[in-house]
Amino acid sequence: MDKRPIGVFDSGLGGLTCVREIMRIMPGEDVIYFGDTGRVPYGTRERETLLKYVRQDIRFLETFDIKMIIIACGTASSAALPWISSEFGTEIIGVVEPAAKAAVKATKSKRIGVLGTSGTVKSGKYIEYIKSICPEAKVFQKACPMFVPLVENGYADKAVARLFAEEYLEEIKAQDVDTLILGCTHYPLLKPIISEIMGEDVVLIDSGAEAAGFALERLSLCDKLSHSDSGQYNYFVSDSAETFAEFGNMFLSCPIKGNIKKIDIEKY
Ligand code: DGL
Repeated sequence: MDKRPIGVFDSGLGGLTCVREIMRIMPGEDVIYFGDTGRVPYGTRERETLLKYVRQDIRFLETFDIKMIIIACGTASSAALPWISSEFGTEIIGVVEPAAKAAVKATKSKRIGVLGTSGTVKSGKYIEYIKSICPEAKVFQKACPMFVPLVENGYADKAVARLFAEEYLEEIKAQDVDTLILGCTHYPLLKPIISEIMGEDVVLIDSGAEAAGFALERLSLCDKLSHSDSGQYNYFVSDSAETFAEFGNMFLSCPIKGNIKKIDIEKY
C-alpha cells in the first residue's frame, strides 16, 4: 500500500481527461495535477523547448512526495518521454504505449488511425510503438493543430469544431480504419463529433483514459495502490486559476473539487 499521490501533467486542460478516468477507476488515489496553461500549446513547439518544459513540469511535481508521474499529454509523451525518463527517480508513464496497446487489441482489420498534434505526428512514436507489437498493422496519422485551441476555448461542441473535424478526418476516413487513437488528451471532448463523422463502428481510443488504466495496472502490480475511501485533488497551473476552474469541469464532467493554485513554472 502506498498513500502518496500520483502526479499528472499536461500542457493545459487536456490531461484532466486522464484525471477523470483516475477518479472513476481509482477513486481512492490522491492526485497532484499540473496544467501548463501559461505555455499551452505544446504541440507546435520545437523539440528543445518541449524538453525544457517537460523537465520543469516533472521537477515541479517531484517537489511533492509522489509515487508516479503520468504524462497526460500525447505531445510530451511522444517527443520527450523516451529521452528524459532515465533522468528522474520517479516512475514516469506516458500515453503512447497504453493507447497503442489498446488500439492493437481493438482492431480487427489492423488498419489504425492516429490523430494528434503536429509534434506527436512528427515524432512517429505511435507508429513505432504499434508496429513493434503488431508489425502487420497499417497506421495512418493526421495532425489536427486547431483541435487544442478549439477545445481549450470551449468550442468543442460548436459548428466550427465540426468543420475542422470534417477537414482533418477526410483522409483517415478514406483509409477505412476500424480503430482511431485520439492521440492527444484534449480530443476526447470532440468524441461526439469525431464519432459521428467516422461512423459508430470505428472504435475511438482515449489516450488519457488508457494511461490511467495502465497506471492502475502498474500500481497494482507493485502493491502501490492507496486503498483509501476517497481521493484528494490539488491542481496547479501556470496561468489563471479562474479560467482553469471555469473550463476544467467540462474535461472532468463534474465540477472541480480541490484547490487550484497558480505557480511560476520557470522556477523549476
Ligand atoms: N494534451 C496535449 C496532447 O496530448 C495537447 C498538446 C498541446 O498543448 O498542443 O498532445
